Amino acid sequence: MKVLSGIQPTGRFHWGNYFGAIRQYIDLQSNEQAFYFIADYHALTTVRKPDELKGYVKDAALDLLALGLDPAQASLFRQSDVPEIPELTWLLMTVTQMHLLEKCVSYKDKKERGIAADAGLFTYPVLMAADILLYDSDVVPVGVDQVQHIEVTRDIAQRFNRTYEVEALKLPTAKVVESSAKVPGLDGEKMSKSYDNTIELFDTPKRTKKRINSIKTDSTAVEDSKDPESCSVFDLYKLFATQDQQNELAAKYRAGGMGYGEAKKTLYEAAMDYFGEARQRREQLEKDPDTVEDILRQGARQARDVGRVVLDRVRSACGLTAAN
Ligand code: ADP
Ligand code: TRP
Repeated sequence: MKVLSGIQPTGRFHWGNYFGAIRQYIDLQSNEQAFYFIADYHALTTVRKPDELKGYVKDAALDLLALGLDPAQASLFRQSDVPEIPELTWLLMTVTQMHLLEKCVSYKDKKERGIAADAGLFTYPVLMAADILLYDSDVVPVGVDQVQHIEVTRDIAQRFNRTYEVEALKLPTAKVVESSAKVPGLDGEKMSKSYDNTIELFDTPKRTKKRINSIKTDSTAVEDSKDPESCSVFDLYKLFATQDQQNELAAKYRAGGMGYGEAKKTLYEAAMDYFGEARQRREQLEKDPDTVEDILRQGARQARDVGRVVLDRVRSACGLTAAN
């Protein structure tokens, strides 16, 4: 079974990205073949500062490797290191109906929020379809918000196959993992870099503490009983704690006498502990940029080896000469 997923380098990764996406990707890396990539072409639809983009791509690679992505098991690469992707995008574009893209939520949302829509944003799902179809991927682990794009990918693949009366493209399946339930941000809304309510995975301990301290809580007095189930601090604590630890903190909430400050301290300690080893690995890797670059280049070579075969199949299906 071939697994593939991508993540956009549009900011520093936060707890929502980890529990909603990255953790699931890494869990699937022992499959027969696994491809994970940093979607820098997609990021160009929002990040317009070259140095910022470079920084996010570097951080993304460091974060993924530190969090346990193992290059011996999975190929990790930058999307822009695989020129077969934009080539396949064009071929797919010629069979993609406008209405498929017009109904895509990501485009509709941005347009409704008054963000100028360019052709890149509009055709974003076709680039994503090429990302997936280029390797005959079977399974695509994604957050709930991306399921529509996988449906579009299947529609495009089917239409290509039907148009050319050949099974040139394999239909992938989305794998939505249950824990991709919303991770709340500082304000209780979904954690997202667009809302400036995130807690980054590898921020400094000092800033992490500051962010945790700014999680919104109600004004129940220290001595009063509190409801853990309606508190973002407790919600976030659940991500890191065992059932026994959760029961223990919940009991303290209900008993009264514990202020939110203490709950936040417990959350901070649990999070630092949970990501402690990853943080150390990240610090080591950061000192060794050549190794990280080698991993990305090797990953791109592996991706291209598989992708070129599929691309040739697609090229000849539509009457173009094979590239190899
Ligand atoms: P952001 O909302 O910060 O811009 P992205 O849209 O780049 O994050 O998200 C990348 C992946 O992380 C997506 O698959 C998404 O489902 C997941 N994700 C992001 N935020 C959360 C969250 N608060 N809870 C659960 N999953 C999330
Ligand atoms: N659009 C995805 C996101 O924002 C990232 C992505 C790009 C992706 N290409 C992909 C995910 C292919 C899965 C498969 O999260």
